[in-house]
Amino acid sequence: MSIHPDCERVMLTEEQLRARVKEIALAVDEDYAGKRPLVVGILKGSIIFYADFIRFLSMPVELDFMAVSSYGSGAVSSGKLNIKKDLDRDVKGRDVIIVEDIIDSGFTLANLKALLYERGAASVKIVTLLNKAERREYEVAPDYNCFDIENEFVIGYGLDYNEQYRHLPYIGILKRSVYEK
Ligand code: PRP
Repeated sequence: MSIHPDCERVMLTEEQLRARVKEIALAVDEDYAGKRPLVVGILKGSIIFYADFIRFLSMPVELDFMAVSSYGSGAVSSGKLNIKKDLDRDVKGRDVIIVEDIIDSGFTLANLKALLYERGAASVKIVTLLNKAERREYEVAPDYNCFDIENEFVIGYGLDYNEQYRHLPYIGILKRSVYEK
């Protein structure tokens, strides 16, 4: 397989992703036996992980999506999440599984988790593909984490730089020359 020219190197291959996503999905499936959780994908970065993850589940699930952003990029957080697209389903009394591509500062998930509990969710758990623990500023931990990664600029398998590279089937490290020019 050829690697994208803007990619420094492949961090996680398609095979590694598939094997680990399956392992995590089976663990989730087992933990939720007898339940019917609402699986919430956070757009857009999680789409490919989400699609792969749910196909390993055998329990009955309902699917829903949210798109969120923080107010003002890079600014110190006001503690408020900007909801660009809200859920279609009511979370009251539901077991919610949030599916994310990456936890960085933790801002998004710390706020989202609090919001869903405020709305009456019975439980809220987090499944993430990638976890950059060293970047954490807000207290939140994934309940299921596929890979701990270093503080590298990662692209592919849903993750972007300027809306590019989301379609790459692997996780790669973006060349510095791309974002430093
Ligand atoms: C990314 C990612 C998380 C968030 C993590 O989304 O998907 O939602 O950032 O960062 P945090 O832990 O510092 O809050 P992004 O805003 O890049 O949008 P995208 O998913 O559409 O790429």
